[in-house]
Amino acid sequence: MENERYTCITLRNALDTLADDIRQALTAPRKWLPCKYFYDPTGNALFEQICELPEYYLTRTETAILKQHAVHIIGRCPSDLTLVELGSGSSTKSRYLIESCLARQQDLTYYAVDISPAGLENGTRQLLDNYPRLRVVGVAAEFADGLGYLTTHASGPRLVAFLGSTIGNFTEEDIARFFTMLRRHLRPMDRLLLGVDLIKDPAVLEAAYDDAQGVTAKFNLNILARLNRELSANFDLATFRHRAVWNHERGRIEMNLVSVRNQRVRIGDLNLDIDFRQDETIHTENCYKYSQSGMESLLTRHGFQVLGHFSDPRDQFCLFLAS
Ligand code: AVI
Repeated sequence: MENERYTCITLRNALDTLADDIRQALTAPRKWLPCKYFYDPTGNALFEQICELPEYYLTRTETAILKQHAVHIIGRCPSDLTLVELGSGSSTKSRYLIESCLARQQDLTYYAVDISPAGLENGTRQLLDNYPRLRVVGVAAEFADGLGYLTTHASGPRLVAFLGSTIGNFTEEDIARFFTMLRRHLRPMDRLLLGVDLIKDPAVLEAAYDDAQGVTAKFNLNILARLNRELSANFDLATFRHRAVWNHERGRIEMNLVSVRNQRVRIGDLNLDIDFRQDETIHTENCYKYSQSGMESLLTRHGFQVLGHFSDPRDQFCLFLAS
C-alpha cells in the first residue's frame, strides 16, 4: 500500500517449526494439533466467516461493548495514547478505540501486530481512509517479537488491546508466559485491554463452536488440508468429523477431529505413517471461558491491577482494563 501514513515492518520468526510441531503432536499418546496452524489464508477467510455466524456471538458482542464503552475505556487511560493491538486481524473492532482517541488528541499512531502481513494491509486500509489524523504501523510478527519492537519504538503511554477472546485459546502455562512478557514490556503508565468470553449456558457455547452451516467444521478440517498442502500428507477429509463439546470441569470448549474409521495416514515430508482407530480424536483447540471474578483474580495474581470491566447487558462477554 502506497501511503505515507502506513508503514509495515515484518519481523520474521527465524524458525519454521511446522514440521517438528506436527511430528511431535501427532505422535503423542493423545494426538493433538497446535491451533495456531488453523490460520493459513483459507483458515483466515473461514475465521472471518465464523465471526459473522448467528451462533458465534463473540465478535458481535465484543464489538457492541466497544461501540458503547470505547469513550469510557479511553477516558480511563492517560492522554496522548498510542494504540497497540495484538492479533489485529481485520482491525474492525479497533475503530471505536481509534475514534475515541482521536476525539481527545490531535493524532494517533496505531500499531497493528499480526502474524499475517496481507491481513494487516487489508484491515487497516479502510481505517486510513476514514481517519485522516491516523498513522498505522503494521507489525507482522509473533506477539512477543511485536511487543519487543514496540518497547523501543513507541514512546508515551500505550494502550495494548488483546481482543476477541484469543486468551481463551491459551493454556495456563501460555497465560503465565504471556502475562510475564506483557509485564516485562509494559510501563506503569501503559494499559492492557483484554477481551474475554464469559461462562454461559453450554448449549449456547456448543452452538457457537458447531454452527448449523458447518463453517466451524470446515475451519477445523482445514488444518488437515493444510498438512496435505504443506507437508505432502494424504488425509482424506471425508473420513474425519468435527466435534465441539463443553468440558464443565475444565471450563472450556474442546474441539476435536474424530476419525470415522480405522485408517493409516502418510505425512510424506515427515516420512511418517500414523494409524488412527475408529473414533480416535485429534484434539485441535481449547476455548476457555471465564467468570468475571475468575479473570479478575487471574490478572491480579499475575501482577495487574484491574481498573474496570465493561460487559454487555446479558453478560456474555467482558472487556477488562488493567494496568
Ligand atoms: C480465535 N479464537 C478466539 C476463536 C475462539 O472462539 O476460540 C477461534 C475459533 N475456533 C472455533 N471458532 C472460533
